[in-house]
Amino acid sequence: MLLLTGWTWFIGSHTAVALLEAWVEVVLFDNLSNSKSTVVDAIERITGKRPYFVHGDVTNRHDLQTVFQDFTIDGVIHFAAKKAVWESCEDPWLYYHENIVWLITLTQVMEQCACKKIVFSSSCTVYDPIASKAPYDESAPIGNAFSPYWTTKCMSEMLLRDLTLHKHWQVIPLRYFNPIGAHPSGLIFEDAAQPPTNLLPVIMQTLTWQRDELSVFGDTYATNDGTCLRDYIHVMDLANAHRAAWKYLQNSNEVIFEPFNIGTGTPTSVIELIQTVESVTWQSVPYRFVAPRPWDVPIAYALPTKAQNILQRSAQLPIQDAVRDSWHALWHK
Ligand code: WQD
Repeated sequence: MLLLTGWTWFIGSHTAVALLEAWVEVVLFDNLSNSKSTVVDAIERITGKRPYFVHGDVTNRHDLQTVFQDFTIDGVIHFAAKKAVWESCEDPWLYYHENIVWLITLTQVMEQCACKKIVFSSSCTVYDPIASKAPYDESAPIGNAFSPYWTTKCMSEMLLRDLTLHKHWQVIPLRYFNPIGAHPSGLIFEDAAQPPTNLLPVIMQTLTWQRDELSVFGDTYATNDGTCLRDYIHVMDLANAHRAAWKYLQNSNEVIFEPFNIGTGTPTSVIELIQTVESVTWQSVPYRFVAPRPWDVPIAYALPTKAQNILQRSAQLPIQDAVRDSWHALWHK
């Protein structure tokens, strides 16, 4: 049985669907600070199987110990973390506490319970924005983060790498690029409690009159249209990558620290994503250019070959499908 900690409102719920459809039993563990328990009903409606759900907090050692007592946990996929770059710059202490202390607490309880297999929700933001050049491969230098959020992801990977070296853990950090989209049923989607800050959900807000227009952060970057390039991957491709990573971990008895880029390998600019939304939805996106964000890296996209070769996993769904599924989920909601 796999324990999925946090992020139930988006990546966690889609990963639970991918795992349940592969007959992997899951326990969802979330404090619902940024999610709703109705997502469990949605997962059951999609898969016909109801995941176990435990309302708990990864900072609460007792909550975690109880889960390991109540269920036979073979491994953990750790999603719980805060991920808003701007917020981490506003409140670095919050991000060090939530992203690092949570991981320390979780891994200490896992060690006590002799559970040493973890798939970790990492990020392409670990790559050194100065020393690394896109397309990023997993051997690119990490560090020199532009924000506390990025630093916590680097530190989390370093902690887990030490557990591999000194405590014989098996660790797979999945370095997400930009997850977008929703399950084709429209029953689960990126439904965070706080207002969205990521590009596609913000664009969708302009189409549903929740926002007058999109502010495009910068149009003078050294790219074809002057806007930043990112690697937008359908959340279902990301979810299936977790399933492949768990299968790899489950079948391996070696001590490993094996990061994988989870992206498509195709860069897309902000303007190109706007144009994709307009062509899929037949709506026009109102936007204007504003000052760039200080932490934005101009070009970030994956070299996805390691995941293709070792996990036999590559992104299958085009960006148009992610936009269509987001749009469908919004109207379904
Ligand atoms: C994408 C592009 C913005 C909003 C994300 C996650 C981070 C990590 C990496 C997992 C940038 C532009 C955005 C807006 C805009 N993923 N933009 N107007 O910054 O790449 O980081 O992916 O760990 O957690 O946050 O994503 O969606 O914020 O920005 O112009 O209102 O869209 O400048 O070029 P980012 P994003």
